[in-house]
Amino acid sequence: MMKVVLLGSGNVATHLGQALKSAGHQILQVWSRTFENAQQLAVSLDASPISDLESLSEEAEIYIISVSDNAIPAVCAQFPFQDKLIVHTSGTTGLDVFDGHLNRCGVFYPLQTFSKQRAVDFQKVPMLIEGSSTNVTGDLLALAKSLSHKAVILNSEQRKALHVAAVFACNFSNHLYSIASEILSQNKMDFDLIRPLIEETAAKAQTFNPQEVQTGPAVRNDQLTLAKHFEFLKDQPELRKIYQLMSQHIINFYQKS
Ligand SMILES: NC(=O)c1ccc[n+]([C@@H]2O[C@H](COP(=O)([O-])OP(=O)(O)OC[C@H]3O[C@@H](n4cnc5c(N)ncnc54)[C@H](OP(=O)(O)O)[C@@H]3O)[C@@H](O)[C@H]2O)c1
Repeated sequence: MMKVVLLGSGNVATHLGQALKSAGHQILQVWSRTFENAQQLAVSLDASPISDLESLSEEAEIYIISVSDNAIPAVCAQFPFQDKLIVHTSGTTGLDVFDGHLNRCGVFYPLQTFSKQRAVDFQKVPMLIEGSSTNVTGDLLALAKSLSHKAVILNSEQRKALHVAAVFACNFSNHLYSIASEILSQNKMDFDLIRPLIEETAAKAQTFNPQEVQTGPAVRNDQLTLAKHFEFLKDQPELRKIYQLMSQHIINFYQKS
């Protein structure tokens, strides 16, 4: 059991806090720049809310920073303890964000898409670990294994590559769902019509290499259909550009292989 302080009260802090609590760890405090947000999360974790870094407890064994990537350096700079274990949860922020001022640091990156409003089975979330020393890595690995069945050590460059892959697989796919939703509503159709297609596409990727199951006009190099779709998007130049770029990438990809 570890004593933990969470710095941040967003999607990841919420899920991580709940997983830590369920695994028997004790959340001492939740810090957030907005006191109401700290309070909301702290109540559900039986922790104390704070919005002032000077009130940080010295009792914790680990401090987990889970704020927006561009706010991590500022939070690190204000962290008052030199020798306490401190980690962030960012895919693309290197371990070097702690350089110079903190001795025991690391990364505790959960690879999943977290939204406060949706429950996640944390035991299935891959935890990617990096530590500033063998001891720190060992401690982080043990903590990760108390939350998840999969904990892996990665360096900052590998983690960045994984994050880029995750942006393509998850964030871009979800944005493409939003585009599909807009096209449907502009043409008076319900998003429900396309949900089975989304479900089957994701299900196929669980058992096949996605390259084996690509379908659609571009992989068939069906130029007639592609031309009709470009024409359909003539008044939406940005979407037309995305459609064209994606289609050309698919055509080139399958011509090579
Ligand atoms: N969401 C995901 O799926 C996911 C997955 C893996 C890793 N991550 C990583 O986890 C970290 C947190 O992401 P998230 O999705 O939890 O973000 P989020 O839900 O947008 O929450 C961001 C948190 O950062 C705080 N914050 C924003 N700007 C700040 C500033 N200038 N100074 C101090 N605090 C600031 C916010 O405070 P307020 O409440 O006051 O706005 C909030 O507590 C990021 O490093 C992200 O890359 C996210």
